[in-house]
Amino acid sequence: MKKLLSLGLLGAALSGFTGMASAQDSQLDLIAKGKLVATAADCQACHTNPEGGKPFSGDYAIHSPMGTIYTTNITPSKQFGIGNYTLQQFSRAVREGVRPDGENLYPAMPYTSYSHMSDEDIQAMYAYFQLGVKPVEQPTKPTALPFPFNMRIAMAGWNLMYLDSSAFKPDPTKSEQWNRGAYLVNGAGHCDTCHTPRNLMMGEVTSKPLAGGMVGPWYAPNISSDPISGIGNWTQAQLVEYMKTGRTLGKNQAAGPMAEAVQNSLQYLPESDLNAIAFYLKNSTPVRDPADQKAADSFGSKQVNVEEGLRGAHPSNANNTIIGGAALFSGYCASCHQPDGGGSKNQAYPSLYNNTATGLNNASNLISAILYGVDRQVGDQHVLMPKFGEGSYVGQLTDAQIADISNYVLTNFGNADIQVTSHDVAVLRAGGPVTLLAKLQPFMAPAMGVGVIIVLALIFWLFSRRKNRRR
Ligand code: HEC
Ligand code: HEC
Ligand code: HEC
Repeated sequence: MKKLLSLGLLGAALSGFTGMASAQDSQLDLIAKGKLVATAADCQACHTNPEGGKPFSGDYAIHSPMGTIYTTNITPSKQFGIGNYTLQQFSRAVREGVRPDGENLYPAMPYTSYSHMSDEDIQAMYAYFQLGVKPVEQPTKPTALPFPFNMRIAMAGWNLMYLDSSAFKPDPTKSEQWNRGAYLVNGAGHCDTCHTPRNLMMGEVTSKPLAGGMVGPWYAPNISSDPISGIGNWTQAQLVEYMKTGRTLGKNQAAGPMAEAVQNSLQYLPESDLNAIAFYLKNSTPVRDPADQKAADSFGSKQVNVEEGLRGAHPSNANNTIIGGAALFSGYCASCHQPDGGGSKNQAYPSLYNNTATGLNNASNLISAILYGVDRQVGDQHVLMPKFGEGSYVGQLTDAQIADISNYVLTNFGNADIQVTSHDVAVLRAGGPVTLLAKLQPFMAPAMGVGVIIVLALIFWLFSRRKNRRR
């Protein structure tokens, strides 16, 4: 720690003092390590605006159920960024969600996962952000959530309930690889922030680790070790391949926020870290959803060919929706995914059966793939499926049309128990389901008096419980 407190001095050394070669070397090592940690933690994903923003200059809009939250400039700019942060202030922001001015951050900044990061990793990241990142002299849009969510102090109460700020403790009964995986999945890599379901208060449901949750209009599936609901039937190598490339044949292709995780972070991790993550997932607590009868990648080997269906005579009482869906699928999807849904020969256009996007008991990823497309840059490969929602250059589809196509795909290639309505599509088009907490917002002002009392009671109860536990 002490060494880092004198970062300023070492920074000066970097910019030209002589006779400090070894200090310089270790400082450069530290910055390089910090860059790796920041990559694993994917700070880039949120703090760089994907639409041409300068690295780490913020201004990326995160649409939370409570309103839009803008990420901040975390370059070393003294005026607009974190150039004035001390190591302690940096650590407190990243691991406890508290700004230097004492205000609480919203948990859209995943400090609930980063809280488990080690001191060494935080120090290395601090060195990187102070000395390895170019300052960007540019302000970001202010976040202005509606009352009562603009009361950042409320987050302090939330933290009492949902922030586990204990440092990561290796489990001595488990292997080094397992422990490294646990650290990455629940800490730096924050897989849990998306893959663990959240309750009505937006806290992670700790009894169902990695059991799947909505991220805006996308569904981050169950990645616990359960063979039916989770990734239990993926091999270690298939998981590593997925993280490295964003696709595993017969399983899934990463779109939406998972594509970003692969693009900005996972593809750059050393193979040993990817193996540790896969090993940990394969050995995590299995969480089964009783509604699941079979694995999501095992659906659809019926080999229905949409073109034959369209040529064939339909009985006059045939379901119009299916005919509509078949015609739409044939027109908009079959050129790439093929009339039988089996994908192109080399699978660059993937099969729609044996694909978790169509086999899960949640159709969000199928619908969102149609609405928002797939866009992923890995190495020098750019994977692209056009979007059919707003701003599409191939043609916009209506909610009803997307519902029809989805139902055609689900019935013939995927999980036929799931059906999609236009309303489902409209909800995802608007950014995903809204939580109860946000729905209550208009009623909160009048209910606030009561609310404050309830929160106080909760805090009191929590504190007394914690004290009791410590005894
Ligand atoms: C999932 C999105 C996300 C990721 C990933 C993320 N951040 Fe943030 N971060 C945010 C948001 C949103 C805010 C602003 C929250 C607010 O206004 O309350 C923020 C705020 C901050 C702040 C406070 C800045 C200030 O002075 O207001 C710091 C420091 C920070 N992030 C550092 C990091 C670092 C370092 C990483 C990687 C280890 C990281 N963030 C990863 C979303 C993210
Ligand atoms: C920002 C949110 C987010 C983060 C962080 C994230 N994921 Fe995902 N993940 C998703 C979404 C959404 C999908 C669905 C992608 C799709 O089908 O297009 C997904 C899909 C997956 C799948 C495929 C599951 C299946 O059944 O098809 C695996 C495996 C996976 N993620 C592992 C991880 C691991 C390991 C981490 C941490 C290193 C991680 N994810 C971090 C959102 C996220
Ligand atoms: C121009 C070619 C093209 C067209 C047209 C097309 N797709 Fe795709 N589709 C792709 C590519 C490329 C991928 C991603 C492959 C990868 O990630 O490796 C993909 C992926 C998908 C996925 C998996 C997404 C996920 O999140 O896992 C689904 C589902 C899908 N397409 C359905 C459709 C449907 C339905 C249509 C018609 C509305 C359609 N596609 C039209 C090329 C296309």
